[in-house]
Amino acid sequence: MRKKVTIVGAGNVGGSVAQRLAETGIADLVLADVFDGVSQGKALDLAEAGPIVGYDCKITGATLPGDYPLTANSDVVVFTSGAPRKPGMSRDDLLLINQKIVTDNVTEIVKHSPNCVLLMVNNPLDAMAHLAFKSAGFPKSRVIGQAGVLDTARFRTFLAMELGVSVESVQAYVLGGHGDDMVPLTSYTTVGGVPVAKLLSPERLASIVERTRKGGQEIVDLLKTGSAYQAPAAATAQMVTAILLDRKQILPSSAYLEGEYGISDLFVGVPCKLGAGGIEQVIEIDLSAEESAALHRTAASVRSLVQVMGL
Ligand code: 2OP
Repeated sequence: MRKKVTIVGAGNVGGSVAQRLAETGIADLVLADVFDGVSQGKALDLAEAGPIVGYDCKITGATLPGDYPLTANSDVVVFTSGAPRKPGMSRDDLLLINQKIVTDNVTEIVKHSPNCVLLMVNNPLDAMAHLAFKSAGFPKSRVIGQAGVLDTARFRTFLAMELGVSVESVQAYVLGGHGDDMVPLTSYTTVGGVPVAKLLSPERLASIVERTRKGGQEIVDLLKTGSAYQAPAAATAQMVTAILLDRKQILPSSAYLEGEYGISDLFVGVPCKLGAGGIEQVIEIDLSAEESAALHRTAASVRSLVQVMGL
């Protein structure tokens, strides 16, 4: 039997995640939304692309709350539902709007899929992952936040543009919370195996780090009516695939930390091994004193949001 993935939220991110996963053909999909007809319409449209593209997975639309039973026994549930930001808004401005949406949805979803891995994509990301973890009552390995893969992809893209090389030649890590104080690790960034600091001046590198930190904002300012969805969806699909195929892939992910990196009782982006069990290992890499201090600063920002939610 094929694996099953539910995507909660049939907006731009949810719809794009569904498309990318459908094209892998590895899972049947349920696209769920509170707006009646939207998820069914997008699901049918996507199914009708199957004969052309060459996939045959089952794609079902579901209207919540009535159709929660259609999501039953999912292996992975991706949460994209919630308000996106508009120009002038920070991700943190979405906190209280998305708190209720996440609490209500997660509580119902886990009743129908008690063994699933929850992959949170809505903002503010790390705080929403924390909220989902507390609402679901799942082991920490089965609640994950997507952000580091996206932030790292942005960093790699900007470096590749600067150096005129393929993005595939750029290896990097962006850790920390998914906010303006995220931590691009220049000491772990290489281009064709060469440390990036040997290829770029400190000023150019600092400017690319800053552009990465503001990468989401740059897209919001250009689109004016919403936020990025192609790269977030690609990042999400990569993580879902790593879980479904038990790939043991090491990807930066928002994980619940219990002492790793000197941080406890908090979701923060760190390198994780993703496989069938969700987060199978948090990988602790050596950080310089400066990088470690930056990671603790970003953790403090996440903690303040968690406290606002009363968690
Ligand atoms: C971003 O960084 C939406 O948070 C997402 O684009």
